[in-house]
Amino acid sequence: MTTSAAADPVAQTGGERRIIVMIGAPGAGKGTQAERLAAELDLPHISTGELFREALTSDDPLGDKVRSYVESGALVPDAVVVEVVGHRLAEHDADHGVILDGFPRTCAQALALDEMLERFESVAIAALYVEVNPELLLARLTGRRICSKDDQHLYHVTAMPPKREGICDIDGAELYQRADDSADTVKSRLDKQLPPMYEVIDYYADNKVLFSVRGDNPAEEVTADLLRALGASRAA
Ligand code: AP5
Repeated sequence: MTTSAAADPVAQTGGERRIIVMIGAPGAGKGTQAERLAAELDLPHISTGELFREALTSDDPLGDKVRSYVESGALVPDAVVVEVVGHRLAEHDADHGVILDGFPRTCAQALALDEMLERFESVAIAALYVEVNPELLLARLTGRRICSKDDQHLYHVTAMPPKREGICDIDGAELYQRADDSADTVKSRLDKQLPPMYEVIDYYADNKVLFSVRGDNPAEEVTADLLRALGASRAA
């Protein structure tokens, strides 16, 4: 991606940044873990999926660009995603680094991220792959429930249930199910999104910043393993 400096949001900021990339299949637990790492490391959690869902429920014209892809479980075109991430990374809360959840998802996105980071003399310091047995993913996604007040409050009907059915433990709001968590759309997401994800994993393995952890352990253990991996990468 090449843009002029004047119009380039990334070029307008600088300084040291800890860029941590979270990779995993749909439902692997990236969002759950990114939220925990963000709190632990005091870095913002940027989820491309959430940015798209916000656009879909507001007047943002981005919503029209991404709607058909998100609803059908396909990947949003690289150029659209890269532009959105470029603008988000230029916000000041990202000055010291970010946890990127769900980006990059293709090699073209990984290359574009490297190009963006190069402009402020930074690199992705760790790519954390949350690896889950594919057989678990359908149950994880169809059982997911989300707080209607704060979508960072995540539950699962059996694995991580709220204390009161259908109600968020933290703020008492109702829980809902994401539209793309229906069984049919989940199958389509897995079919379309797993092959490019494996290419991204190879990309970061070649760059020697890939760390894999088992994501089918209890969430607390996964977090501890991720923090150990980050410690090993001297990133934390
Ligand atoms: P996005 O929102 O990123 O969806 P996703 O990748 O499919 O990931 P999910 O949010 O579904 O799952 P997760 O891995 O975060 O798991 P979670 O922690 O919630 O993207 C949505 C759409 O946007 C995409 O389909 C695509 O169209 C588009 N898009 C986004 N980024 C894009 C990009 N870069 N390029 C192109 N298109 C893009 O956990 C799942 C469930 O499991 C929860 O119920 C949770 O409570 C439970 N759980 C989590 N951990 C555990 C555990 N250890 N044990 C038991 N249960 C657990």
